[in-house]
Amino acid sequence: MKYGHFDDENKEYVIDRVDLPTSWTNYLGVEDMAAVVNHTAGGYCFYKSPEYHRISRFHGNSIPMDRPGFYVYLRDNESSDYWSTSWQPVGKDLNKAKYTARHGLSYSVYECDYNGIHSEEKLSIPRGENVLLWDVKVKNTGKTDRNLSIFSYLEFSFHHVMIDNINFQMSLYCAGGSYKDGIIEEDLFYEEDGYQYFTANFEPDGYDCVRDRFIGTYNTETNPAAVERGECFNSEEKGMSHCGSLMKKFRLKPSEEVRFIFMLGEGDRKAAYPIKKKYSDFANVDAAYEDLRLYWKKKTDAMLINTPNEGMNSLINTWTLYQSEINVMFSRFASFIEVGGRVGLGYRDTAQDSMTVVHSNPDKCKERIVQLLKGLTTKGYGLHLFQPEWFEEAGKPSDFDSPTVVPKADKSIIHSLDDACSDDCLWLIPSIVVYIKETGDLSFADEMITYADTFVEGKNFKESVYDHLKRILDFSAEQVGSNGICKGLRADWNDCLNLGGGESTLVTFLHYAALESFIELATKLGRTEDVEKYGKIAEKVKKVANDVCWDGDWFIRGVTKSGRKIGCKEDEEGKVHLESNAWAILSGAADEEKAAKTLDAIDKYLYTPYGLLLNTPSYTKPDPEIGFVTRVYPGLKENGAVFSHPNPWAQAAACKIGRGDIAMKFYNALCPYYQNDIIEIRESEPYSYCQFIAGKDHKAFGRARHPFMTGSGGWSYFTATYHILGIKPDFDSLTVDPCIPADWKEFSVSRVFRGATYEINVKNPSGKMKGVSEIYIDGAKADKIPVFEAGTTHKVTVVM
Ligand code: GLC
Repeated sequence: MKYGHFDDENKEYVIDRVDLPTSWTNYLGVEDMAAVVNHTAGGYCFYKSPEYHRISRFHGNSIPMDRPGFYVYLRDNESSDYWSTSWQPVGKDLNKAKYTARHGLSYSVYECDYNGIHSEEKLSIPRGENVLLWDVKVKNTGKTDRNLSIFSYLEFSFHHVMIDNINFQMSLYCAGGSYKDGIIEEDLFYEEDGYQYFTANFEPDGYDCVRDRFIGTYNTETNPAAVERGECFNSEEKGMSHCGSLMKKFRLKPSEEVRFIFMLGEGDRKAAYPIKKKYSDFANVDAAYEDLRLYWKKKTDAMLINTPNEGMNSLINTWTLYQSEINVMFSRFASFIEVGGRVGLGYRDTAQDSMTVVHSNPDKCKERIVQLLKGLTTKGYGLHLFQPEWFEEAGKPSDFDSPTVVPKADKSIIHSLDDACSDDCLWLIPSIVVYIKETGDLSFADEMITYADTFVEGKNFKESVYDHLKRILDFSAEQVGSNGICKGLRADWNDCLNLGGGESTLVTFLHYAALESFIELATKLGRTEDVEKYGKIAEKVKKVANDVCWDGDWFIRGVTKSGRKIGCKEDEEGKVHLESNAWAILSGAADEEKAAKTLDAIDKYLYTPYGLLLNTPSYTKPDPEIGFVTRVYPGLKENGAVFSHPNPWAQAAACKIGRGDIAMKFYNALCPYYQNDIIEIRESEPYSYCQFIAGKDHKAFGRARHPFMTGSGGWSYFTATYHILGIKPDFDSLTVDPCIPADWKEFSVSRVFRGATYEINVKNPSGKMKGVSEIYIDGAKADKIPVFEAGTTHKVTVVM
């Protein structure tokens, strides 16, 4: 069953049936102000941080689902009938009202046709401004004159998510809502400078600042008291919970259309005046849309693919890039699942995300990489979750003691080895090497950067990026157990596998991958001593990988503290694990024969039509030696679900050993595009990868959950473009080395690399999966693809 379709030309996903089984979300804002919204205009808005600076309230994990939001009500003043521009919150009978929702790149549009009125509400946040615009158009499509009213509604939040959820005896009496000059101001009086505003491009006929007046104590957003009676209450109050409702009465003749702009902004009434003026001019609203369109066009144009796989084309050219960019912006801290209690940067997630969109967002990727380097301790492990502001030079201290201030950096935030995850920093090394290869910025290796622990001790200790990387590698080399495998510590990539002093093969493979990346960089920089030193370590790690970690047909997952192997043939539960086996191959650590057998084992034991299981069979018996994973229900999340994030690792692993057929089989299984028509099973949005899909040991097998905020976004993008299509930037050239199914006859990629455009056409006349035999540049035979002058365009033909 399907609920919508991809509109590739407009880069939108169109939801034609809005009674979806679950919320389908989108992200607005690409700078400081941002919002997460769903297909019925539900969602919330924040400034920089959804934990410390929320603007609008959200009732997470609630019924009715995903309220409140940015709602617009229309009322027919003749009949007293009313409806909303998005299907919810009023929820008109879908046999009588036609609703659609369209999610685009940083905007969403809700359309409604009801009883001779067409309406449309578009939400977006212009670049360079901290305001959420609600652009509403109402048209009379009937034959008679209409007497209508429009009401807006949003619920303001206290800034701090905790203060907004507990202990109201303080907050409720230190915040006030007031109305003047067409502007509602929410004053969070308990803060030094806590204000929000809500205004519109018209002179209102009524307003409400007090939530409980507008809604009514025994009503909901479905039937607000003010809309029911057709008049706002003109409520204002110092104290209580507040809303933003502005009301206007208007008449429409047949075919007549009117446009209203509502503005929800960061700042006080003074900040609202110029914004009200600016966006009361429709030309400025339209210019903001065009600016956002060009912002995204530049990114999507940086790599456009045309392959025989239509799902891959659609996702890579728009949606997976979008998802990857969103992850670099929001790490994992803003969604309907992560509703603000876990902000900051997760070390491993951010390190991986930063590798995936360097070609379209080099500055943001570098910013994230630098933040992570600053979050590294001199011991060589990183802070698992931290606020990047902690390690920036402090601003002027404020003497105002607000309960919502962001915690400052102090020694307590530097956690010990007990809380360190063994994999966190290893991801950063390949990301930095990818960054340097993409940008050509070799000097970055010598940039001087602080460390987290010495920074909070007040020491001005800096080392080069290159030296940071050595500390990471040395840490993993030291943290090995009695079998010579890296220790598991608090967790490795799998948060729920808590091997502690036990050992993790995954980390050993990641260590090997990081060593290989580092050696490439050291070689390029001519640091031969390091090439030799780390080369020897790599050899040793490879030997351990093949001698100790091998189980006959696949690699074990680890060894518990008491010396028990896990992920091996003898295991009845958790016999085969995906992430360690994928990295055994992808890192290059596994010998050729072992790598081939391992890929077969992944295919045989872990493949399902919805993607690869993380492990199988699921654990059913709690086992503290293995960790929390044994207390997650079978088939969910880390315990036997299709956990999406490692899926593209297995696709890349297949490419590593030339198996383009398997890579594509795995890619297609997880690809949400191909689940567009089975929403009764998938439930979640088909334009976004989800964190997991229930596995075969659960009755909801195939049901996807947690969209957008997952490493599978970035990794799917990276694997498809880098490993499958084979577009690999190098220090001094661009390599094209695809690994595709043998029946692909050709494909093309338009790729911007260091400012030049490469129009790449790959031909596969003899039906190969891997291996390039000839390269032509602008018609002439060549043996490599050089870095061309920025601004030029070149035709590259690659024959496999
Ligand atoms: C979540 C976390 C990620 C972790 C994964 C597996 O996606 O964000 O850091 O690696 O779960 O546990």
